[in-house]
Amino acid sequence: MCGIVGYVGNKKAVDILLEGLTSLEYRGYDSSGVALNIDNKVQLFKAAGKLQNLKDIVNKNYSEISKSTIGIGHIRWATHGAPTVENAHPHSCNCGRVAVVHNGIIENYKELREKLEKNGCTFRSQTDTETVAHLVASKFAQTQDLTEAVRLATKEIEGAYALCVIHQDVKNTIVATRRNAPLLVGIGEKEYYVASDVPAIIQYTKQAFYLDDNQIVTLTPDSMKLIDIENNSISPKIETLPWEPVALSKMGYKHFMLKEIHEQPDVVRNVLSGKLRAIDENITLNEVTLDKDKIKNLNRIQIVACGTSLHAAMVGKYIIEDFCGIAVDVEPSSEYIYRKTITDKNTLVIGVSQSGETADTITAVRQAKSKGSHILIITNRPDSTMAREADSLVPVNAGIEVSVAATKSYMAQLISFYLIAIYIAEIKESIDKKELSDLKHELIVLPQKIEKILAHKEDIQKCSKAFSSSKDFIFIARGINFPTALEGALKLKEISYINATGYTAGELKHGPIAMLDETMPVLSILMSGKVYDKILSNSEEAKARNARMIALTDSVDEKLNELFDNIIRIPEISEILSPALAIVPLQLIAYYIAEFLGKDVDQPRNLAKSVTVE
Ligand code: M6R
Repeated sequence: MCGIVGYVGNKKAVDILLEGLTSLEYRGYDSSGVALNIDNKVQLFKAAGKLQNLKDIVNKNYSEISKSTIGIGHIRWATHGAPTVENAHPHSCNCGRVAVVHNGIIENYKELREKLEKNGCTFRSQTDTETVAHLVASKFAQTQDLTEAVRLATKEIEGAYALCVIHQDVKNTIVATRRNAPLLVGIGEKEYYVASDVPAIIQYTKQAFYLDDNQIVTLTPDSMKLIDIENNSISPKIETLPWEPVALSKMGYKHFMLKEIHEQPDVVRNVLSGKLRAIDENITLNEVTLDKDKIKNLNRIQIVACGTSLHAAMVGKYIIEDFCGIAVDVEPSSEYIYRKTITDKNTLVIGVSQSGETADTITAVRQAKSKGSHILIITNRPDSTMAREADSLVPVNAGIEVSVAATKSYMAQLISFYLIAIYIAEIKESIDKKELSDLKHELIVLPQKIEKILAHKEDIQKCSKAFSSSKDFIFIARGINFPTALEGALKLKEISYINATGYTAGELKHGPIAMLDETMPVLSILMSGKVYDKILSNSEEAKARNARMIALTDSVDEKLNELFDNIIRIPEISEILSPALAIVPLQLIAYYIAEFLGKDVDQPRNLAKSVTVE
């Protein structure tokens, strides 16, 4: 994880670095730091905790610090070593002339550290990154060439990294490199930018290129040199970034999460736009390149994803199996990659990721690709590493999601799965046309139903408050809404730190029911359809153990008032589409409980938005 940014040119480097780090805060917020060359001396400024702490340090000495026109910065999600000032990046060597920022994990850091310590290096931190600073310094001592020092160092490093390096003796120069971690170079007028992600540079330039693995770039205000790890010269593939500078504003909402929950009606409209034109027309998915004969012959689909994207994938399994009659396996990417990859060219492998940078999922799709499978990527970031692995791409167009807890991107992924399933079903003619056009109609009116829920959010707020002192929370559902129960529980635990679990309602009696008593809230996702009566019975079983019962339902049945202490009613919807509606109140419950408890809703502890380490 972590975010890095670098600048060399004629502007005040510290302003650009701090702005850049602000837009990369989604990548981590355990600590931050910058290294600048001030009066021919590399100086480090670091702070534990939120970025504001670093800004406060910089502001105290701003006139001095802002003299520098070259610098590198870092925002950290701790992997090796606690989130302290010592472990904050940039890291330096014994002589203090080198400064390094790093995103990734140096896997052989222990061996490297031992070797460097034997050679007299003294380490100040517990991080894997500090080895790079000492290693580059020792290579520089041999070569007096910073690019060569970095190149030689990377030959000894194992693992994943994006690195930016400056050296006091090499004026106005940044050297940057990467392997299995994203890094792009922005090109300005007599200036260059380096960053982990587009938002850090987009307000300054749209001209940029992505570094490929094992490439090393050397930047000065007047020059840019790109080589590979064998020292061959390379021409960068410069592109115009398809991004507009975005004002990441909360638009009057207290938190980004609440704003993003409210954006969901428009997100649904965006995802459908251009793909679902009319209920009597077939779905168009222009970026799906798998030909129709191959689609007709598909006998298996594997979906890999993590976290919230995994829950969307689980809903996707239900829809695709139901509509297309193709067996679908869903697996967390982190499990998929550590066992035998059984896939082939007749299997479609779908990777789902909001960020497109989740390391486990990237590895999983690469493994599947090496076996000849067609790779379809569903992502909110068509410019991401994962998107570049895709044979077919389904961009979800949710817009930038700032809150660490995914909400609108989940909605966009769900809607994308409906479109993909309908697309395949239309090619395979595996489902009745009337059923498909009914679903298309329901998709088109879905945004209005979400809007209705949002219009009555105060009721959900009241209900949430009543449960905010609970230490534990159980969500139950069956069938297509089992993933909704998992996602509702994940939302609650990640932002309120309440121990929440989603169960299939039928499993409750096989163990978890032992936990129930009058202190335990049980939320039943009770949507009309095949399993309604079954969930009702399971809810009765929970009620008989005195649990505090909450129903989330589209039923208007008055009898539910006897069984449930609280009822959250949502508009009526078909069972197949119900996950896209039922999730909205659960996102709101998580939000309101966390907000009531005074938690850091948008940046919950220990988390980062983009998990770029395995
Ligand atoms: O970017 P991705 O969708 O690949 O990220 C996967 C998970 O890290 C992510 O969904 C995580 O679980 C979120 N914090 C959930 O809110």
